[in-house]
Amino acid sequence: MRSGFLLVVSALAGCASAFPLPGSAEVGAAKLRDPAAREQDLVHGRDVYLGKCGGCHLLIEPGKFASDVWPGKVERMQQEQRVHLEPDELRDLVRYLVGASAVAREAPHT
Ligand code: HEC
Repeated sequence: MRSGFLLVVSALAGCASAFPLPGSAEVGAAKLRDPAAREQDLVHGRDVYLGKCGGCHLLIEPGKFASDVWPGKVERMQQEQRVHLEPDELRDLVRYLVGASAVAREAPHT
């Protein structure tokens, strides 16, 4: 019982490190596509991602797909998998994924 709980906690902690909080680099990259994007929007989008996108499969690191591919992936999840997103959740999720992907892909993994 107890060890099971600890396993879940460490799995979550391990996961979170692959999804760092977005900062100015991610915001700058997101603004190229959506000039209105602000840091709090990307932070909100990351919350949406962690909260709504990991229920059926493991969360996919943003850098796995190019920035311009992500909006279509999210749209497909909405249409084919019936993932419900409020309009502001959709907007910020895409801002987050676009920005985080661009930064992950330009910086070599450490
Ligand atoms: C209701 C279950 C469910 C939820 C919730 C869900 N997905 Fe998926 N997702 C799937 C299934 C099933 C697949 C594999 C089949 C496919 O690619 O359509 C998949 C595949 C994917 C892929 C890989 C697609 C590819 O082209 O390789 C991505 C990226 C993805 N999901 C992103 C997301 C995002 C972003 C969210 C949150 C908005 C999300 N998923 C939420 C069920 C879900």
